[in-house]
Amino acid sequence: MIKAKMILDYDYRIGKVDNRLFGSFIEQWGRAIYGGIYEPGHKLSDNEGFRKDVIELVKNLKVPIVRYPGGNMLSGYNWEDGIGPKEMRPRRLELAWREVETNQFGINEFVQWAKKANTEIMMAVNLGTEGPDSARKLIEYCNHKEGTYYSDLRRSHGFEKPHNIRLWCLGNEMDGPWQICQKSAYEYGRIACETAKVMRAVDPDIELVLCGSSNMKMPTFGGWEAEVLEHAYDLVDYLSIHTYYDNFNNDTPAFLAKSIEMDQFICSVAATCDYVKAKNRCEKTIYLSFDEWNVWYDSNKERKKMKPWQIAPPLYQNTYTLEDALVVGTMLITLLRHADRVKIACLAQLINTIAPIMTESGGISWRQTTYYPFMHASLYGRGTVLSPVIDSPAYSIRYDRTLSWWNMEMGMSDTGIREVPYLEAIAVISDNKDELTIFSVNRDQQNAMQFTCELRGFEEYLVTEHIILENENKKASNTAGNPDNVKPHKNGDAISSGNEINATFPKLSWNVIRMARLSSK
Ligand code: AHR
Repeated sequence: MIKAKMILDYDYRIGKVDNRLFGSFIEQWGRAIYGGIYEPGHKLSDNEGFRKDVIELVKNLKVPIVRYPGGNMLSGYNWEDGIGPKEMRPRRLELAWREVETNQFGINEFVQWAKKANTEIMMAVNLGTEGPDSARKLIEYCNHKEGTYYSDLRRSHGFEKPHNIRLWCLGNEMDGPWQICQKSAYEYGRIACETAKVMRAVDPDIELVLCGSSNMKMPTFGGWEAEVLEHAYDLVDYLSIHTYYDNFNNDTPAFLAKSIEMDQFICSVAATCDYVKAKNRCEKTIYLSFDEWNVWYDSNKERKKMKPWQIAPPLYQNTYTLEDALVVGTMLITLLRHADRVKIACLAQLINTIAPIMTESGGISWRQTTYYPFMHASLYGRGTVLSPVIDSPAYSIRYDRTLSWWNMEMGMSDTGIREVPYLEAIAVISDNKDELTIFSVNRDQQNAMQFTCELRGFEEYLVTEHIILENENKKASNTAGNPDNVKPHKNGDAISSGNEINATFPKLSWNVIRMARLSSK
């Protein structure tokens, strides 16, 4: 048994959690929409074709906001293809994933679905094949009341009231060579700035997200952020940040440590935003929108295997394991730790494609392992994040950040040893202070952890629940045939005595200790 300690002081707080930290993302991609949230004719679908079983699973996650419609597909998408009578909508070649898009589902269907799923929309405008003109038409269609071509067009489609969408992304991953109409930082900065202007002219109350780098390994990372912000700082509110991790190397200790990279990524992007702020003597702070994050097994083999131009092919239906769920847990803890800077985050994605919720067309739906840590964080992680002091034993891994063969040839490597604490943890106190929740992961593959938490400056709290996600087999997963193979139990032994909480965290486990204030009971 290893031992780890945490101190929580009521006066040491990181900041208030923006509920949008528990957002998600649905792209018109693979079976996310067709056969995912939308399946007319399925016995569980409602009269609009939305699967009610899926809506229930989404509602149970209490997802506050969902990004839509992409993703890579966004950069070739014409939103006007997806409105109006369904029989008139064109079929198009969707170039990002090389599928056929039938456009039977579009913006209005998404608005209807989002209402039923109790969630808001984070809409994105195409800055690949399209630009400011398409964006201004879209926002007029969605947000303008009436009396103009596009607002009246929406009304003629049966939506009398504006959709009133508040949060908008200016394109998607525009630095990526895979992106349809990739741009340089100068090209993107300029078009994003001009698009922001016309969108704000239509609706000044919107919030805008500017594209940061697609990930930290992009050769232009850092410089990209600084340059695009130079162009658009005054017109935007957030900068996007994306990352995916995998365990292709089957190196579990290194995989479980990935959230440390995520932490560094957030710090670097925040520092770059503040560099532009200082340089331009700005008052305003740019916040971060971590609008794509997850574990993703993205293999070229799978890409090549896929026959192009299918409708809703079963792309990237990753089956997640217990260890994937633990990495998702550490990523959630990292996001919470940066709640003062990261205001929006989207688990990418929500249904079928790299998702916590899976469906069979014509069949059942089920929860992947990753569903559970996300659900716990979303349900119990709202309030104010406390700044913990953690004392944990650690293990060492080798890291290698050398980005190119040229750097290696020149002997310029960034490799070394990284210390990884076995305990990753954070705590959140609810707004009314009635509930205090600790989220934690024990990264140790061999040993259980004896955990102690000292509470300072709190009134007395009693443990109400100690939830654990664990499995003897770190590769265990949930499938259509065995949908409840990995699921949390509430048999944890956490106990409070005075101002101390003691618990055992099994090896390789996700733990949620929920406490209630005595005086509130
Ligand atoms: O979420 C899957 C894909 O990852 C998105 O389409 C794209 O934005 C990113 O590269």
